[in-house]
Amino acid sequence: MIADVLIRNAAELVTARGAKDSPKTKEGMQELGIIKNGALAIHGKEIVAVGETDEVLATIRRVRTVVDATDRTVLPGFVDCHTHLIFSGSREDEFIQKIEGRSYLEIMQRKGGIFRTVEKTREDLASPQALMDRAEAFLDKMLTFGTTTTEIKTGYGLSTESEFGLLRLIARLKESQPVDIVSTFLGAHAYPKEYENSKADYIQLVLGMLERVKTGGLAEYCDVFVETGAFSPSEARTILKRAKKHGLKLKLHAGEFNDIGGAELGVELGVTSIDHLDYISERGMELMAEKNTIGVLLPGVPFHLMINRYAPARKLIEAGVPIALATDFNPGSCPTLSMQMIIALACRQMKLTPAEAINAATINAAYALDRGDRIGSIEVGKRADIIILNIPRHQQLPYWFGINLVARVIKNGAIIY
Ligand code: NIG
Ligand code: FE
Repeated sequence: MIADVLIRNAAELVTARGAKDSPKTKEGMQELGIIKNGALAIHGKEIVAVGETDEVLATIRRVRTVVDATDRTVLPGFVDCHTHLIFSGSREDEFIQKIEGRSYLEIMQRKGGIFRTVEKTREDLASPQALMDRAEAFLDKMLTFGTTTTEIKTGYGLSTESEFGLLRLIARLKESQPVDIVSTFLGAHAYPKEYENSKADYIQLVLGMLERVKTGGLAEYCDVFVETGAFSPSEARTILKRAKKHGLKLKLHAGEFNDIGGAELGVELGVTSIDHLDYISERGMELMAEKNTIGVLLPGVPFHLMINRYAPARKLIEAGVPIALATDFNPGSCPTLSMQMIIALACRQMKLTPAEAINAATINAAYALDRGDRIGSIEVGKRADIIILNIPRHQQLPYWFGINLVARVIKNGAIIY
C-alpha cells in the first residue's frame, strides 16, 4: 500500500474505537482501544492502516512523510460539539461582577449578559469582515489546541437579518479554513429586548426564520435555551417541533441553572443531545438513557461562573446516559477554546477518569454531532483528523493542566500544525 503520511512508534496510540453505530456508555466509556508502539497510515484524507508499528510497516510499500511519535501519545482530533464561536466584544467586566458575587441570571435580568453581546454583534454585522476575521482567529487557536471539528451556534443576532448574517458567516467559515464546522440555529437563545413584552410575536418570528433556514440549507441543527428567564419547555416545544418538521436535527440547552423539565422535553422530541445538565432529575436521566440521548457536559461553565455545581457525571454514566464534553466557548459563561482544559476540569470536578473524558471529547462528541461514523476515532476508513501530544501516556492529558500539550495536528490527512 502507498501512504501519504505514516505516524509511527507512538508510545500510546489511543484509537477510541469500539463504539458500534452508537456512542459509548457505562463501562464502554473506559475503553480507549490503546495500541502500544502504535502506527497509522494515511492516504489522501483517510486513515488506511492502524496497528502496531511493525504490523503497519509491513503493509506499506511507499510513504511520502514519516512522523516519529516516540514517547508521544496519538489521539483522534477533539470534537468540540457545543460552541457560540461568532460574537463581538468580551465581558470581563461581568466576570468581575461574578467574582464579587452577582449571578449570571441576575446580570442577564439587568439586560447585561447575552443582550450586551447581541447589541455589539448586531452592530458589527453591518460590515461583517471583522467578525469573520475574529472567528477565523478563534478557529485557528482551537486547531492548535487539538480541535479538528467544531459546532457553531448563532444566537447573538435575535432578529431575522442578524441571525441570517451569522448563518452566512458560518457558511463562509466552512469554506475559508480547515476546521470542520457544524452549523446550529439558535434564534431562541433569549427574547430580544424589543420583544420583551410580546414574547408570542418573537416565537412567530423564530418560526418564520426556520422556514428560511430550511430553504437556505444554512443549519443542520436547531437549539433552544430552556431556562428560567429564557424559554420555557412549552415554548421550546413549539420551536423544536417546527424545526423537526423542516428536517433539522435538534439540540437543547437545559439544566444550566435550574431544572425546568428540559431533559424530559428533549427525550420526548428525540433530540440528538441535551447540553449542560448541571441540574437534572433522576427521571430525566432514566429517560435519556432509555433513548440513548447524549448528555453534553460543559464543566467550563460552572468553573468560569464560580458555581460549585457540576453535572452529575458519575450518576449519568451509571444510569447509562452517553456523555460527551464540549467547551461551550462564548463570552459570558465560558471563554475558553481548549478541550484540554475541559478534560482537565471534567476529571477534577466531575470525577471522570482520563479514559472516560477522552472518549467523551472524541468519539461520543462525534456522535453528539451525528458524525460518529466518520470522525472521533482512529480506525481504517475514518477521516485522518489526528493529534500528537507531548505525553507518553494518555493519563497525563488531564494531569498537566493549563498548558498546551499538542505537538502536531493532522487535519484531513495534512500536517497543519
Ligand atoms: O451556553 N446559556 C446560554 N448560552 C450560553 C451563554 C451565552 C452568553 O452568556 O453569552 C451558554 O452558557
Ligand atoms: Fe451554550
